[in-house]
Amino acid sequence: MFDPIQVRQDFPMLRQGKTMQGHPLVYLDNASTTFKPDCVIEAMNRYYMDETSNSHRGDYDLCYNADRRIESARHAVAEFLGAEDKEIVFTAGTTESINLVAYGYGLKFLKPGDEILLSVAEHASNMMPWFRIAELTGARIAYIPLEDGKITVEGLRKSLNEKTKIVAIAYVGNVLGYVAPVKEMAKIIHESGALFLVDGAQAVPHLAIDAKDLDCDFLAFSGHKMCGPTGIGVLYGKYENLCKMDPFLTGGGMNVKFSKDATSVCLPPPMKYEAGTLNIAGIYGLEAAVKYLASIGMDNIRAHEESLKRYAIEELKKTNMVTIYNEDAPSGIVTFNIHGVFAQDAATLLNSKGIACRSGQHCAKVLPEELGTVATVRASFYLYTTKGEIDALVEAVKKGGDFLDAYF
Ligand code: ALA
Repeated sequence: MFDPIQVRQDFPMLRQGKTMQGHPLVYLDNASTTFKPDCVIEAMNRYYMDETSNSHRGDYDLCYNADRRIESARHAVAEFLGAEDKEIVFTAGTTESINLVAYGYGLKFLKPGDEILLSVAEHASNMMPWFRIAELTGARIAYIPLEDGKITVEGLRKSLNEKTKIVAIAYVGNVLGYVAPVKEMAKIIHESGALFLVDGAQAVPHLAIDAKDLDCDFLAFSGHKMCGPTGIGVLYGKYENLCKMDPFLTGGGMNVKFSKDATSVCLPPPMKYEAGTLNIAGIYGLEAAVKYLASIGMDNIRAHEESLKRYAIEELKKTNMVTIYNEDAPSGIVTFNIHGVFAQDAATLLNSKGIACRSGQHCAKVLPEELGTVATVRASFYLYTTKGEIDALVEAVKKGGDFLDAYF
């Protein structure tokens, strides 16, 4: 196991004694984005300070070096996921990855009457691209019913039918932090002949993933939620699917040739999907991030987050002042409300104590109907979160109650 106090020394945002509203900064919004360790910042700086060049476009050493670095990053990501290099497409993040599948696969293959199966717990990035594709193709959207906020195999079985062509769900929900049984789901989805896209935005940063073992068709995630840079992400796709799809973006870097008669020939995947100059600094940073997380160990990170979660639940419950919506979720996300305090007011109050939590609907705008509340506060942990920070959260929640008592 690692020592989170030691780990904090790797992060400039954590070791410089930052404050917010005059209090030590307590950052509990890691489901939104994460801090970056030195190795990620250094890797990006190395590209800008020492190795700047475009990639795949030059017959000189600097460019060749950038090409090699991109392929080494692709290999590092593939290793991290148990995938093959050619199955790793660099994108701008989860949103672009899902749009790529929606437009590249959905638009090409879906027909009127086909079904796209989602869950109401999905965030905007795994709903809106499918809404658009349904509108463009005449396919319809259906939802797997949740059971106490969870996606279950039984719920999936009930919802699948011969019309279902694509199932797209989050491995770990971004509001409630429940972990979907994706491996069992993949088997059932494939037996029914549909494809399975897993939104890994909240999973890949926190769980050990073996894409081959999960057997999903696509897995989308972002670098910035896993200690990497913003603006870089990945679409993992089984190679046969990547070969069948159409590109979402076209342009330089993804074609073999194009002619005056308006015909063109694409490069094979993954480059078929990497049009335009890539976010090369981001790719350098992502490679450093996956190596950093692997060196700490994904199972260790998960165990640390789960133990923080249990501690946070115990301590928050002792206050008798909160409703917790996801007590049994096996991930580092606690979603709650302080009794009698609107979620965004609660987040403002926490901010006044130096604590950063997200509040509102967390981009999952259909889920609140299911939860029976319009908004919640979300505290989300990562490898550098400490028990002391949870104590600070609990103290601030108690102060919220004192504040209310004084006024009401
Ligand atoms: N999807 C991100 C979150 O949950 C932005 O905060």
